[in-house]
Amino acid sequence: MSQSPARETDRLREGFRDIWHRIGFWIGPPSALEAPLKPTPHILMCPPDYFGIEYEINPWMNRARQADRAEAVRQWQGLRSLLDSVGVRISLLEPVPGLPDLVFTANAALIFKQKAILARFRYSQRQGEEPYYEAWLAANGFCALPLPGELYFEGAGDALFCGETLFSGYRFRSDARALQQVGAMLGCRVIPMELVDGYYYHLDTCFCPLAAGEAIYFPGAFDEYGRKVLAEHVPRLLPVSENEARCFACNAVVVGRHVVTNTGCPQLHALLRGRGYEPHETPLDEFVKAGGSAKCLTLRLDGEESAGWK
Ligand code: ARG
Repeated sequence: MSQSPARETDRLREGFRDIWHRIGFWIGPPSALEAPLKPTPHILMCPPDYFGIEYEINPWMNRARQADRAEAVRQWQGLRSLLDSVGVRISLLEPVPGLPDLVFTANAALIFKQKAILARFRYSQRQGEEPYYEAWLAANGFCALPLPGELYFEGAGDALFCGETLFSGYRFRSDARALQQVGAMLGCRVIPMELVDGYYYHLDTCFCPLAAGEAIYFPGAFDEYGRKVLAEHVPRLLPVSENEARCFACNAVVVGRHVVTNTGCPQLHALLRGRGYEPHETPLDEFVKAGGSAKCLTLRLDGEESAGWK
């Protein structure tokens, strides 16, 4: 009985596979062919050409303590080259005169796949940034979605994925109801936590997911309920001391196993090293004068490391 053509191709394919495996022993395993290609991490930043302390909308800001513009530029470039050296592709938003906080791109939106849920800032001083973020995101292939209604929401500054869950902070900037709307728009579980210390007015100043199930946090920024839900939902929850939280230890940029922070966080860095991370520090104190640091100066466009959808 003659074999069907389908059987014949199977036999050929089998033979080819066999030959490939034999050659493979000589040239090594075809790992480059088999390993899935990892997409390049992609971050949005905005140069600090017009950065300064022109108003006071959080306890860190004091117009009498001005930022040194030249030093801010050096520090921002230091952060940029550090991120570049760990393999990040950086896109730039053009700075705009009169919008000193546009450097804090974390507040532009919350990114979820191709969707960008746009920020609506609580303070009028920052509301002028909204159209610039929207225009950049829309021009760069994102579906830019405003929140319905009049609620305040300050983007990735107040909403961070750890696994499939969106952890969010409310009170000083974002509204609790806005966070629920974000969850409904994205179809994901949201855990809103009240922030109780004005120095930690955005969630990204006191909580940083490292990977699914693992995060650092400053306990003093949350009430008992917040600490309890964090402990319940994040199995490896690493506390940061008050001293280091004040240096914005939790405001870290995580890229794979690399974790980038401001200087002044040696205990956190030792802890991270012990857990297999590679911490890096770079001075960012000019931005701390505005109440921001490494994470605030970045918006991850392809999903945080810890995000389940990544
Ligand atoms: N001066 C800015 C503000 O008060 C700082 C924003 C920091 N951004 C952040 N994601 N924590 O809004």
